[in-house]
Amino acid sequence: MAHLVTLIPGDGIGPEVADAMRLVVEATGADVEWVVEEAGAAVLEREGTPLPDRVLEQVQRSRVAIKGPVTTPVGTGFRSVNVALRQELDLFAAVRPSRSLPGVPTRHRDVDLVVIRENTEDLYQGIEFERGTPQAAALRDELRRLTGRTVREDAGLTVKPISVTGARRIVRFAFEFVRSNGRRKVTLGHKANIMRFSDGLFLSIGQQEAADQPDVAFEDMQIDQLSMRLTREPETFDVLLLPNLYGDILSDLCAGLVGGLGLAAGANLGWEYAVFEPVHGSAPDIAGRGVANPIAMILSGAMLLRHVGEGDRASAIESAVDTVLERGEIRTPDLGGGSTTRDVAEAIAAEVSV
Ligand code: NAI
Ligand code: MG
Repeated sequence: MAHLVTLIPGDGIGPEVADAMRLVVEATGADVEWVVEEAGAAVLEREGTPLPDRVLEQVQRSRVAIKGPVTTPVGTGFRSVNVALRQELDLFAAVRPSRSLPGVPTRHRDVDLVVIRENTEDLYQGIEFERGTPQAAALRDELRRLTGRTVREDAGLTVKPISVTGARRIVRFAFEFVRSNGRRKVTLGHKANIMRFSDGLFLSIGQQEAADQPDVAFEDMQIDQLSMRLTREPETFDVLLLPNLYGDILSDLCAGLVGGLGLAAGANLGWEYAVFEPVHGSAPDIAGRGVANPIAMILSGAMLLRHVGEGDRASAIESAVDTVLERGEIRTPDLGGGSTTRDVAEAIAAEVSV
């Protein structure tokens, strides 16, 4: 039976890399039935919302989706499509692997780590109070009453909730991920000395799980120290377990360690639904020129295939990417080459179908 997959091409370079991904996935012979749904800037203009209900409903029907990046409109009052999708579908875990790739010059070799980011809470929950509004003033009064502390009158506020429920499921997910993927160690990043009741809670849930699962190695590290250590000795890390904001930041850092955003794939997973997407954004600076690196999107497609039980085809894509990179003849400008998105896709597709 065909795998039903919702494809959201997205904005900017999104449609370019989505076409490339589709070409490669189809070259593996996988039987995929794509249902294409638009979300993002163009839809916002036409329909007044960047994420129409039918897109969500379609993802719910197919259960599995892959999306290109979507531009977050600034100052329109609309929530980010990405954040909305993650929250509406309860995609609580972002999984973002970074491994050193052959033929891609970087400062470090032998990097093979996976960021597991909590995707629904923390400063990303979307609870914000705009400076100067009556709501901000009311919250300020309440905070003064409760804590005796004064928030400046000209402050905007963003709330950082981290719950036992939210922390426990991502912590369990990370330990389970280590087991089922033959990994060895979890490093939990936090700033629990300062944010005792949010990061501190996240840490304590991690420590409890580590005590229950002594066969998985566990360490915790303050997020600033972890950032420094990642730039000096990334090969000593394995699975990084992070609250939402730190996970966002360190995902890009880890992508940089192995050659940049053009190579970094990802998945957003919940108990019911899975949405695969590259780590990068819509790259307006290079959009429409056909030079975006499609590999991040193609590797996201490989993660999707593995998720739907097509592990062999997923591995075929990953080896084909390695082969094309190692040969080094065909690569996009972000990797120092002069090839187009389409050239790279065709080279990888030719490799998978042999
Ligand atoms: P970005 O990731 O789009 O671009 C950062 C830099 O990396 C740019 O110089 C860009 O040209 C380069 N780059 C990114 N992907 C590339 C690729 N595949 N090949 C070659 N070069 C690549 O981040 P930026 O500029 O901060 O965000 C642009 C827009 O994308 C914003 O509206 C942002 O909100 C949105 N965004 C969407 C995401 C998503 O849909 N998941 C994730 C991140 C950002
Ligand atoms: Mg990001």
